[in-house]
Amino acid sequence: MNKKLNSRYEIKLVLYFRRYFTAIILSILCMLLVNVLSLAFPWAIKIVLDDVLPRYDLILLNKVIMGLLAILVLRALFGFVRKYLSNKVGEKIVCNLREEIYRKIYKLSIENIRRITPNQILSRITQDVENIRYFIITDAVEFIYAIVSLVLILFVLFWINIKLTLLAVITLPFFVLLYSRLMPHLSLALKRYREVNSQIFSRINEAIQGMPVIKTLNAEENEKSKFKGMQDNLLTMLNKSHWLNVSLWVIVDFFSSLGLILVLWVGAQEVMSGKMTFGELMAYYSYLGMFFVPVIRLTAVNNSFQESRASLLRINEIMAVEEQASSVINVLNVDKLLGQIEFKNVYFSYMESKPILRNISFEINPGEIVGIVGPSGAGKTSLINLFLRLYEPARGDIFIDRHNLRELDIRKYREHVAVVMQDDFLFDGTIEENIAFGLNNVSSSDVVTVAQVAQIHEFIDGLKGGYKTNIGERGLRLSCGQRQRIAIARALLRKPSVLILDEATSSLDAITENLVQKAVIDFMKGKNIIIVAHRFSTIMEADKIFVIKDGMLIEQGSHKELIARKSFYSELYFEQFKDEDLITRNII
Ligand SMILES: Nc1ncnc2c1ncn2[C@@H]1O[C@H](COP(=O)(O)OP(=O)(O)O)[C@@H](O)[C@H]1O
Ligand SMILES: [Mg+2]
Repeated sequence: MNKKLNSRYEIKLVLYFRRYFTAIILSILCMLLVNVLSLAFPWAIKIVLDDVLPRYDLILLNKVIMGLLAILVLRALFGFVRKYLSNKVGEKIVCNLREEIYRKIYKLSIENIRRITPNQILSRITQDVENIRYFIITDAVEFIYAIVSLVLILFVLFWINIKLTLLAVITLPFFVLLYSRLMPHLSLALKRYREVNSQIFSRINEAIQGMPVIKTLNAEENEKSKFKGMQDNLLTMLNKSHWLNVSLWVIVDFFSSLGLILVLWVGAQEVMSGKMTFGELMAYYSYLGMFFVPVIRLTAVNNSFQESRASLLRINEIMAVEEQASSVINVLNVDKLLGQIEFKNVYFSYMESKPILRNISFEINPGEIVGIVGPSGAGKTSLINLFLRLYEPARGDIFIDRHNLRELDIRKYREHVAVVMQDDFLFDGTIEENIAFGLNNVSSSDVVTVAQVAQIHEFIDGLKGGYKTNIGERGLRLSCGQRQRIAIARALLRKPSVLILDEATSSLDAITENLVQKAVIDFMKGKNIIIVAHRFSTIMEADKIFVIKDGMLIEQGSHKELIARKSFYSELYFEQFKDEDLITRNII
């Protein structure tokens, strides 16, 4: 997780409370009314016992009952409004939160996104937001409800009998003391529990995605026992937190019951000595029962308060990650790209300690086809990443049509550049949706055209659903080669000025690769194509070939020139030539 925290972007729940101020105040008001109305019920008992029964006053009894019914209706009404409002506000806040996190992710540089795992982001958007929602619509409300009830009931208790009330609450300090001792342990246990829980969650997620690997490596038993270990760990923690939770519950119950016994003992004597009526004692007893309910609730609320506070902290860890500098002061809008590309003394590294690209300088002219070769891990993909400005060079500059890449409006710029990576990402959806991804108003004939260029039209046409066939999550219902060609079609549909193929045809057989390449070159006529490839047949025709080794550009020139030089390139070439199968040799 990135430690570059920046409070500028932090989410503060207070801001949401301000946004939904009216609704929140209204719902608190309703809650207050519900509370006050609830106080009427014990008092009705007092009236019945003290005034109705001794005097056989049927009229008063009917009045009391009518009153209670009216109160019941009102209470239901206010209760409904309160619940409705608090649910609505809670849901809205959750939607806002989710959107804010989701939007934030798009503002991060790829570098920072890589540091946050998909699981982390997912659990922020789902679990953590859910925690906050639960807190807002249930516990935050309960908390206010409990506080309001406590104050109101305490007031009534004192009003009825000061002596009894002092006696009833005498146990409270003990309770608070014990509670505050146990609570930190409980919070800690809960925190650990959540950590282990999320580890288990990521493990399951990974195991499902990596199932073919686990099965082929015969690692099932190993994985199962690892999982069991994690579960046992979780169980131990759960036991601890349950033990604490139960003790807390028992303590609250013990002290509140102790209060009730004391009150019964002293209260009965008060009635006998005539200082209190029988009805008052009964009402008092009911109020006292009502008093301890919110006390118990408060303990539960504290738990979920801690939990949602931790969730908010975790969300804010993501929110605080520095956003990618969107641009410098003068943003240049490029309406079209000629394709004059220059790298000037470019250095780059992912982590400061390990240089990846060193002093790279080259020029590409408009309309040129460029091949990039080099051993794997040499830095070819990194070079492409810099060109797309997914990462920034540590030193040196990249110029596009003589403008510094840093000064271009990045979104506009990317409109003119299309890239196909080795294992490009396809989304769950139809083939057509995937090819037209990110574009609006695409005609199906355009989709067919690019699919034909990418040599995938016949395959799609042969499917039962044709272009409407669903390809499953990540396109997993297709072969690698089919996915690659769909990704190529997707890139072509954007009619880019610069097309980059980074080992984009590596899963195709040599014949198909050759067909794709010819058609793509024809389609891109006059535009730049940059091809990173292992098979020499794919780059031999390029106008220029760059040879990258250990992060350096060690040779450049046409295939003929490079072969004539008899250096690293020709070494690589003849090495492969030796191994290539007959078909490829025929093509060469
Ligand atoms: N996201 C990354 N974080 C750290 N190191 C990386 C990252 N991506 C690639 N590398 C490292 O950079 C080097 C060059 O990788 P890459 O540009 O993908 O090589 P190529 O495409 O030539 O095979 C490799 O040593 C690789 O380990
Ligand atoms: Mg690569």
